[in-house]
Amino acid sequence: MRAANNFSEHFTGALRFPCVCSLVEIIRRAQSIPMKVLITGSGGQLGHHLQELLKAKRVEYVATDVNELDITDFGAVNELIKKYKPSHVINTAAYNAVDLCEENVAIAFAINAAGPWNLALAARENDCVFVHVSSDFVFDGTKKSPYVETDPPNPQSAYARSKYAGELLVQNAGGKYFILRTAWLYGDEGKNFPTAIIERAHAEEVLSVVEDQVGCPTYAKDLAEAIFALTQTKAYGLYHGVNKGSASWYSFARAILKEVELDATVQTQTAKQYAKGVNRVVAARPAHSELATDKLQKESGYTFRPWQEALHEWAEKKN
Ligand SMILES: NC(=O)c1ccc[n+]([C@@H]2O[C@H](COP(=O)([O-])OP(=O)(O)OC[C@H]3O[C@@H](n4cnc5c(N)ncnc54)[C@H](OP(=O)(O)O)[C@@H]3O)[C@@H](O)[C@H]2O)c1
Repeated sequence: MRAANNFSEHFTGALRFPCVCSLVEIIRRAQSIPMKVLITGSGGQLGHHLQELLKAKRVEYVATDVNELDITDFGAVNELIKKYKPSHVINTAAYNAVDLCEENVAIAFAINAAGPWNLALAARENDCVFVHVSSDFVFDGTKKSPYVETDPPNPQSAYARSKYAGELLVQNAGGKYFILRTAWLYGDEGKNFPTAIIERAHAEEVLSVVEDQVGCPTYAKDLAEAIFALTQTKAYGLYHGVNKGSASWYSFARAILKEVELDATVQTQTAKQYAKGVNRVVAARPAHSELATDKLQKESGYTFRPWQEALHEWAEKKN
């Protein structure tokens, strides 16, 4: 009874002036797709938030990280999927150490390309939907406006090439898939750019931060919600999923420190200056990799909030 009340309260406005299109849309959104989820790489940032979300939504899931399921092992992947029989496999596992990928190319391709290929094949064999996460770094960053899904990738680093290879393999595995390209991800658990900036602000009086690279800071909590919204549709394909708006690393750093009320001086540096100042290999990164999310919004109904609002929520939990 309560559910029926909620339904009519929720859709009263739309039902007052029904037309065929809006009714079809209402019915499409109201039909939830039954789910039983296998998460891989669950110990990471996105894995953590996905688990929180699925718990809150009372969706049955099993969470695995590398110790329980190494995605580079096709036999193990196929066996678990066959046994557990998920409706959806969501892959959040990755090798994300962008600079280290330059030296560990084989590891990067094993985890970021062969891993999703294994999962996509096993998902197809066992008739489940595969969800994979890729990166804004597949683009070279020369476009002056936000990238859309149909823009041609041109990866500039070993990490980016391994992520792009992963996309191509998933797309060619022959099953049902969602690929979401995201960017500059941070979550409540694990190390990320905001935690690194806070740590540095405690140790250094003046922080130099790169100013000539612009992207979309994205809260893993919001990405998890977008993934869930997409899985409630059958609009399989490639999507961009990031918080709204863009920032340079420098302006993101300043916003982080303001949110956590830390007083440190932040000054700009160029990516070239940064690379010169550190004693190791630094991979090339796109100068401007803002992503447009219109397709995801249209197909799933999910709207990303501005990155500043998401950061505020993240910081409030830290404070
Ligand atoms: N972080 C970003 O800024 C960013 C930007 C763009 C796109 N993305 C993409 O977003 C997705 C989620 O990223 P995230 O930041 O949540 O990643 P994360 O925190 O680095 O988590 C990845 C998890 O995968 C695990 N893993 C590594 N190798 C594995 C294997 N062979 N089998 C199973 N699990 C394995 C890792 O374990 P260990 O920690 O033990 O290695 C870790 O728990 C990834 O696809 C990533 O490429 C991230």
